[in-house]
Amino acid sequence: MKVLLLLLLAAAVVLLPGAVTYAIHETIPSETQAALPGADAQKLGEYILQGNPYTRWKMWPGKGKFYKGTEPHGTLLTTYVNDVAYESIRSGKGVLSDGSLIVKENYTADKVLASLTVMYKVKGYSPKAGNWFWAKYTPEGNAEAAGDLEMCIGCHGQNRENDYIMTEKLRKR
Ligand code: HEC
Repeated sequence: MKVLLLLLLAAAVVLLPGAVTYAIHETIPSETQAALPGADAQKLGEYILQGNPYTRWKMWPGKGKFYKGTEPHGTLLTTYVNDVAYESIRSGKGVLSDGSLIVKENYTADKVLASLTVMYKVKGYSPKAGNWFWAKYTPEGNAEAAGDLEMCIGCHGQNRENDYIMTEKLRKR
């Protein structure tokens, strides 16, 4: 009997921390793991790589790894969205909510990660262009360009009525 109790105790000690972390991870929305940064390229880079690593987020609804992209993005793309963006895309509102973050991995044809391109909706940031903060990072997270970037808006602006989103026509209900 004692042995059994000891075994149970040992199992609990080994398994509990895992279970607790799992429970926390599942119940607290990922955005609260680290506070969302402001419109700041360096802080945003730290957030998506360390504070709330994008690789743990969901992928764009209906898109898997390495789907075909077009210029100027990679030949192959993998796009991750945070919970706010995911819920907005699925909500049928036709627009993404403040705090939405989209991180797109841009790959070469032979699956070498070339860059990360990011769209981050920051309340009041740039009302004339959908309040999107645009950024491009090296795979290591160094910002190559960030802000209210004309080079991104010039093209994504074609889809202004689709909240500057190019991947798909957002559902409206
Ligand atoms: C010449 C047009 C063009 C330019 C310039 C461009 N994009 Fe895109 N972007 C696209 C297209 C088209 C897609 C859809 C995926 C694909 O087919 O490559 C896309 C998709 C995206 C997505 C996924 C969300 C969405 O809108 O569908 C992000 C994030 C993104 N681009 C960020 C950027 C950033 C940041 C810049 C500027 C550094 C930029 N893009 C410049 C055409 C462009």
